[in-house]
Amino acid sequence: MLRMCNSLLFAVLLATPMAAQSLDSLLARMTLEEKLGQLNLLSANGRASPQQIQLVRDGKLGGLFNVIGAENTTPVQRVAVTESRLKIPLLFGLDVIHGYRAIFPIPLGEASSFDPDAAEATARAAGQEAAAFGINWTYAPMVDIARDPRWGRIAEGSGEDPYLGSLMAAARVRGFQQNIFATAKHFAGYGASEAGREYAETEISERTMRELYLPPFKAAVDAGVASLMSAFNDISGVPASGNAWLTDTVLRREWGFSGFVVSDWTSVQELVNHGIAGSQAEAGRRALTAGVDMDMQSSIYVDSLAALVRSNRIPMAVVDSAVMRILRAKQRLGLFRDPYRARAAPANAELRAIARRVGAESIVLLKNEPVGRGAACCAPTLPLSKSGAVAVIGPLADNKEEPLGPWHTQGRAEDVVSVLQGIKAKVTAGTQVLYAQGAAIEDTSTAGFAAAVAAAKQAKVAVLVLGERGDMSGEAASRSSLGLPGVQEQLLEAVVATGTPVVLVLMNGRPLILEWASDHVPAIVETWFLGVEAGNATADVLFGDLNPSGRLPITFPRVLGQVPIYYNRRNTGRPADVNNKYSSKYIDVPVTPRYPFGFGLSYTTFGYGNLKLSSARARVSDTVTATVTVTNTGSREGTEVVQLYVRDMVASVSRPLRELKAFRRVTLKPGESRAIDLPIAVKDLWFIGLDRKPVVEPGTFRVYVGPSSAEGQEATFECIP
Ligand code: BGC
Repeated sequence: MLRMCNSLLFAVLLATPMAAQSLDSLLARMTLEEKLGQLNLLSANGRASPQQIQLVRDGKLGGLFNVIGAENTTPVQRVAVTESRLKIPLLFGLDVIHGYRAIFPIPLGEASSFDPDAAEATARAAGQEAAAFGINWTYAPMVDIARDPRWGRIAEGSGEDPYLGSLMAAARVRGFQQNIFATAKHFAGYGASEAGREYAETEISERTMRELYLPPFKAAVDAGVASLMSAFNDISGVPASGNAWLTDTVLRREWGFSGFVVSDWTSVQELVNHGIAGSQAEAGRRALTAGVDMDMQSSIYVDSLAALVRSNRIPMAVVDSAVMRILRAKQRLGLFRDPYRARAAPANAELRAIARRVGAESIVLLKNEPVGRGAACCAPTLPLSKSGAVAVIGPLADNKEEPLGPWHTQGRAEDVVSVLQGIKAKVTAGTQVLYAQGAAIEDTSTAGFAAAVAAAKQAKVAVLVLGERGDMSGEAASRSSLGLPGVQEQLLEAVVATGTPVVLVLMNGRPLILEWASDHVPAIVETWFLGVEAGNATADVLFGDLNPSGRLPITFPRVLGQVPIYYNRRNTGRPADVNNKYSSKYIDVPVTPRYPFGFGLSYTTFGYGNLKLSSARARVSDTVTATVTVTNTGSREGTEVVQLYVRDMVASVSRPLRELKAFRRVTLKPGESRAIDLPIAVKDLWFIGLDRKPVVEPGTFRVYVGPSSAEGQEATFECIP
């Protein structure tokens, strides 16, 4: 009872904000140097250096990141709260992107689950584990919408769609912030980097910015995110880290965001390279006055801005507002009362169970056709039997490093279950599992092919695990070609040539070009980078213990020349028409993608029928509910992701052919039918009108409900004034 009372009291204390007055009086006691110190954020190399500890003591540091382990955060925090003049605690940041030590699927993979609850669960677990190691602030979620798979950071986000991206952003913020502060990044437009080239300029209209790139940030703000990170890129010449329209007009004035903005790594200093500041001090002035409160790694605010404030080139009120945002964040986190935040780590078994469940949910079955002729024909290649000899081939088959993906924080290869291990654990005793690497990821040699071919020949089925290294996506990992690296495609061709049925298991951080494979391999499974339980989650799906339910959150092109390719494009004045040369298409490749947004197969099949709308006419304040009957027409239980898209048929601005506006995961037994309701709030069908303001215009809206962005039943309703 006493324990309960104590913990209740603790909860109440944490929830009780330090009186606003005491933060004001704290601010009033701060010197200008101490104020600028709160705006200073530096990276440590595992542990704070003696110089950094001195900065803490002198009140010249507001936070540190990349300090690893509570044994390293605690002593520095002690210096802050006992030895510095004002005893202001520090923020401890880290890129906990998809796990701390227990690594979950990369965000793009997790978005394939179309399951925001799954994203919330992994973010909560990752935050809880990170908190136990002294971290109180993560630089996640990354909510950049991206349409260009050349850009490596596509792996870190939720893909190309602003609706799915917004749900995932909010879910991850909720998940992380049960234990630590989150940061929605990179504000904004970074995913539009020209030609997919990392850190490149972007050209984004205000309409596209507001309709496509900003919604996930707005969703994160509405979910209560503590901070945003300003991006590296410029937007039509104005760098995001010195862009008052973004960080002041939109974020603070329109959205009412009361948290703080941190720059990206040296992005304040980089304003000099961008050519919008002639000196470091000027770069700092541009960033701070635009609304970037905290300077990551440039040390410009703390080193160069005092003179500008003293000469009134930066109003003291600007500095004070930024400082108050940092102080309020520290207060909201409870740091003034509980600076060390000693927390227990979640049980490893619990973390692994989440990783396995969400891992399997993130897998997308891209192709599953029958192999064999005559009597053997007509059963799809997957799921595999647990008792036939299986060859497991490829550079990623017995690989425990790459499934950790591009940001693996404290993840360790030794914690990872490889696909080979997962398969071995799944097959019945005595079943032969023949392993051959075949080639390394970027090999130029085919010397290992013979062993791979020999293994395939002895087996009933060959599972080829191919793809990218983890660090071929993520930051500074733009690619100019999107095929399988090295000689992997030749390896695939050599194994397919044996006649043994082949299952291609892909591990990668972006859409790949899979032309040959899509035409010649009977079964293709996209697993992304699934983290510590990669092998078990993959085996759960390959052998049918779990029926795949993932759907693509991003379009897979046929060829690189189609990039950027995305589903929510506009119609153009000359929509593609195979019979009309003068229409919007290519002369050498179909205009359609290889695999569309929202696509994914199951081991069962689903039928759609009887789409009805609750009303044929609706006002902007109304909700129209689409009801569709979905039937499991196959012989296994399975989960369908029922997707609803809308097209605004005639508006003052040309609108996309389709926009995702609702979806639901529905699990059905064989033969079971269910009426599924998908509500559409008409007010959510806004777009940015000619006057640059959001508007829902009266007129016809076409609704599509189906299994992907390329299919579906149709119905229409009128929006009336
Ligand atoms: C990345 C950010 C990351 C930061 C801190 C930068 O290079 O762009 O996403 O949060 O480093 O590690």
